[in-house]
Amino acid sequence: MATHDQHAAQHQGVSEPGTRRIPVAYPDLQGNEMQYVTDCIATGWVSSQGPYVKRFEDAFAEWAGVEHAVTCSNGTAALHLALVALGIGPGDEVIVPSMTYVASANAVAYVGADVVLVDSDPVSLNITADAVAAAVTPRTKAVIPVDLYGMPVDIAALRAALPEHVMIVEDAAEAIGARVRGTHVGGHSDLATFSFFGNKTLTTGEGGMVTCHTADMAARVRLYRDQGQDPNRTYFHPVLGFNYRLTNLQAAVGLAQMERIEHHLGERARVSMRYANRLSDLDHLVHMPPVPGDHVHGHWMFTVVLRSTDAGMRDRIREQLAIDGIETRPGFTPIHRLPMHANPGAFPTADWIGDNSISLPTHGQLTDADVDFVASRLRAALRA
Ligand SMILES: Cc1ncc(COP(=O)(O)O)c(C=O)c1O
Repeated sequence: MATHDQHAAQHQGVSEPGTRRIPVAYPDLQGNEMQYVTDCIATGWVSSQGPYVKRFEDAFAEWAGVEHAVTCSNGTAALHLALVALGIGPGDEVIVPSMTYVASANAVAYVGADVVLVDSDPVSLNITADAVAAAVTPRTKAVIPVDLYGMPVDIAALRAALPEHVMIVEDAAEAIGARVRGTHVGGHSDLATFSFFGNKTLTTGEGGMVTCHTADMAARVRLYRDQGQDPNRTYFHPVLGFNYRLTNLQAAVGLAQMERIEHHLGERARVSMRYANRLSDLDHLVHMPPVPGDHVHGHWMFTVVLRSTDAGMRDRIREQLAIDGIETRPGFTPIHRLPMHANPGAFPTADWIGDNSISLPTHGQLTDADVDFVASRLRAALRA
């Protein structure tokens, strides 16, 4: 079996660019991950009991500047828990961008509420306060702004445009480390959710987190996460809960990842800013969302959107890059085009992003030469 180092070497600059595969994502597990996981195994604390869960939650909350952080099994469960904890259910409406990963809308359907879709802004690729405000009805209970690809939504501006009763559940799955005017994602939202899937900036393999500001709300999230069991009465379940716990093994990885979070973010920023620099003269061919001066981008995945309206061009470019050994990702299929959320409304910006975006390899294993190689091959494919 290949060791971690062999895997890493395969993906690092040990061969000439073009003679190997450059993956779109690759986890950096080179801190205390192995040591902490070994500790879990040595002590027998492998399930969701065990010290690493709280240590990971505390480290995350302190670093992100939020009062409470509650681990859970993945980012989708985090969204589901947030909506359940808010008491959202049948008859309620929740506003979601059509341009997002399916989980943001699915969580709304899980609680039996109605998904109300809004289109995105063609510059930031995120929702705008105006579009959300226009979609509010007396039945609106919450909005799920999504920090797409790591670009943070200005939650303070969104809040100012909404009636007081509309809750904000920020889907920050892709945006750990992103900030607006110094406030980390989640800081101004009623609840925020994060994903620690293997391709994310901070990974636990699979994993998620819910952050919030009151002890009462954190207790509700924990209650539903822990099978609805009364924390003071074993096997008494006052509510219908879920088993959405994170294991001590996963939290051990998460804590080790937290210890190096600034390094993980710095590496992604290095890669993304180098792409932006190398591709800056192609603005007439590809849109690269500009980062406002008071925003810090999370740099989850460097993503360009082709300006061309040539229907097959995105896939042709991705195929060409694949021949060059470069793995890329297409944009998400907009929610309004998925069968279970089908919506006849017009969402032209979501369509444009979904059909024309390409996410480039973004992770710390990439050397500067790798980034230059990817940028030069994209440039060639665009001109082909
Ligand atoms: C915007 C968004 N929301 C939610 C999720 C769901 O996270 P997970 O895959 O951990 O369930 C993801 C992740 O992949 C995502 O990109």
